[in-house]
Amino acid sequence: MTNIAKGLEGVLFTESKLTFINGSEGILTHLGIPIQEWAEKSTFEELSLALLDGKLPTAAELAHFDAELRANRAVPQQLIDVIQNMPRGVHPMQALRTAVSYLGLLDPQAEEVTPEARRAIATRMIAQFSTIIAAINRAQEGQEIVAPRADLTHAGNYLYMLSGKEPTAEQARLFDIALVLHADHGMNASTFTAIATSSTLSDMYSCITSAIGALKGPLHGGANEAVMDMLDEVGNPEQAEAYITKKLDNKEKIMGVGHRVYKYFDPRSRVLRDYAEVVANKQGKSNYYQILETIEKVVVDRIGSKGIYPNVDFYSGTVYSDLGIRKEYFTPIFALARISGWCASVIEYSRDNRLLRPDAVYSGATDAHYVDIQDRQ
Ligand code: ACO
Repeated sequence: MTNIAKGLEGVLFTESKLTFINGSEGILTHLGIPIQEWAEKSTFEELSLALLDGKLPTAAELAHFDAELRANRAVPQQLIDVIQNMPRGVHPMQALRTAVSYLGLLDPQAEEVTPEARRAIATRMIAQFSTIIAAINRAQEGQEIVAPRADLTHAGNYLYMLSGKEPTAEQARLFDIALVLHADHGMNASTFTAIATSSTLSDMYSCITSAIGALKGPLHGGANEAVMDMLDEVGNPEQAEAYITKKLDNKEKIMGVGHRVYKYFDPRSRVLRDYAEVVANKQGKSNYYQILETIEKVVVDRIGSKGIYPNVDFYSGTVYSDLGIRKEYFTPIFALARISGWCASVIEYSRDNRLLRPDAVYSGATDAHYVDIQDRQ
């Protein structure tokens, strides 16, 4: 009997030097360097460049890349007009998908597909994603769009464009760390989608538009939004234990825990927990953080033996909320970080491209004949 790899689980189709994951031990590395070190010592700008080039940059290379990002933050006015004229109330991921596709119409280099052209477009897209997402957020709320500033870091500039106020250095750094933690995660549905599109030698904007479509689905992005809904439902820390115990007794899924690959703590959740704790303590330990602490304890005690532990989404929502980001924008924020991983993976794959063309086992009729429409039952 033919073996079908449902969901392509365990199917290897390419090699990559970018990201390594050991799910049973909770290990995640980029270029062999643990995610904890990237979070502690690096920045989103540096990790993005390291992923694009497959190596740690020199100081001069990083300064050049950083300057390129700063210089490319503005998007054409035509795109701002499109964003401002989008219907109110659309999902921000719909708006992002449309905006990125439209941006491709305005880029004279869009149709070039050499690795060099893809690299140049990637740099611009990394810079411009931030401007586009902040503009969508403000336009959807009926606010004036805030132009980017070149004197702020990538993370700081996003928070500035979102609120119109310059964030503190601490807020900018916290957001930077969240971007670092989400920048890449090896092969996954959206990265695979981007690569599948690029394997046809389609253009970079089509690759990233397809990836946004894949990330938009609730089985991929979106769980951190559900965690916030859960926290609001629990209400206060005293209710947390009873709430989660009841859910587990009823065999209901708890949002923000469990992962297809990690069967131990997702290392990104540990980093985010530490930062969430620092922020929470400053505010006299926020309700959200105390609820999460209790849920984590109960989950690990009760179903940790099944390999169910907090994933990256468990703490990210509270961190984003503390930074003034509304939960509808959690998935676009995921895209804001993952654009680097998508672009790097597309470029890496396109260096030794082979059209992705899987197969399906045919299980339909084999001996049928055409029946005229008037003779059909
Ligand atoms: N809450 C409670 N129990 C769970 C959870 C959960 N979130 N996840 C899995 N389990 C239980 C299952 O019921 C099953 O129990 P059983 O053996 O008694 O039947 C056991 O743990 C194994 O679960 P699987 O379904 O085999 O785990 P799988 O790898 O298929 O699921 C998934 C992974 C889809 C992420 C799941 O854990 C889940 O739905 N989590 C909640 C949603 C979430 O947080 N998603 C974000 C993932 S991270 C990201 O995408 C960035």
